[in-house]
Amino acid sequence: MPAEFANQDVRYSEALVEHFLQKFTKEGDVVLDPFMGFGTTLLVAERLKRTCYGVEFDSKRHQYVQSILENPHLALHGDSTALNSLALPALDFSITSPPYMGKHHKENPFTAYTTLLDPDGGGYNAYLSDLTKIYGQLADKLKPNGRAVLEVSNLKHEDGTVTTLAWDIARAVSEVLHFDGEIVMSWPDDCGYGYDHSYCLVFRK
Ligand SMILES: C[S@@+](CC[C@H](N)C(=O)[O-])C[C@H]1O[C@@H](n2cnc3c(N)ncnc32)[C@H](O)[C@@H]1O
Repeated sequence: MPAEFANQDVRYSEALVEHFLQKFTKEGDVVLDPFMGFGTTLLVAERLKRTCYGVEFDSKRHQYVQSILENPHLALHGDSTALNSLALPALDFSITSPPYMGKHHKENPFTAYTTLLDPDGGGYNAYLSDLTKIYGQLADKLKPNGRAVLEVSNLKHEDGTVTTLAWDIARAVSEVLHFDGEIVMSWPDDCGYGYDHSYCLVFRK
C-alpha cells in the first residue's frame, strides 16, 4: 500500500476472496465488487482469470486500483447506490465488504464518510434500506442462481453497546436475494470491530 493510504487499510484478505471465487466461479466468469476499496477482489480475480468489475466512490482509491491492474478499465469510478446507471454486463458472482455503519454514526457510509447524514433522514435504518436498494440493482444484473457474498462484522462500541450490523445486513439484503446462510471467518487477532470473527453472508438469486 502506498504511504498516503497507510492509515486507511480496510482491505479484506486475499485468501478469503480466493476461497469464494474458487467455490462459486470458474475461469472466464464475470464478477462484481460494488465497494472495491483498494482492489483486493479485482487483483485476486485477475490472477484466477475471472473478469472482475469494481466500483469505488473515492477517486484516489480508484486511481490506485487502476494503477495495479492488468485491465484497469474494469475498475470503475462511481457510486454503487446508482449501480443500474453503470455499464455492467450480466454477472455470475459478486463479493464485497461494504462500508460499515454503527447505529449512532453521523457520517454517510455511501459517500465514503465524506458527508454528514441528514439528521431527519432515517440514520441507520436508511443505511440498511440503501443497502437493500443497492442489492436490488445488483440482483437485476445477477444471472439466475448467481451468488452474492458480503463480508461483515457486528460492531462493539466503547460504551459497551453493539450494532448487530451483520445480522441487520443479512435481513436487509434478504429482501431482494435469497439468503443461503453464513460462513464464519475466524481471525487470529481482533479484526478491528471488537470481535475476532466476521460473517460471510451468502445470497443467491
Ligand atoms: C470496506 S471498504 C472495501 C475494501 C476492499 N474489500 C479491499 O479489500 O480493499 C469499502 C469501500 O467502499 C467505498 N464506498 C463507499 N461508498 C461507496 C459507494 N456509494 N459506491 C462505491 N464505493 C463506495 C469506500 O470508499 C471504501 O473504499
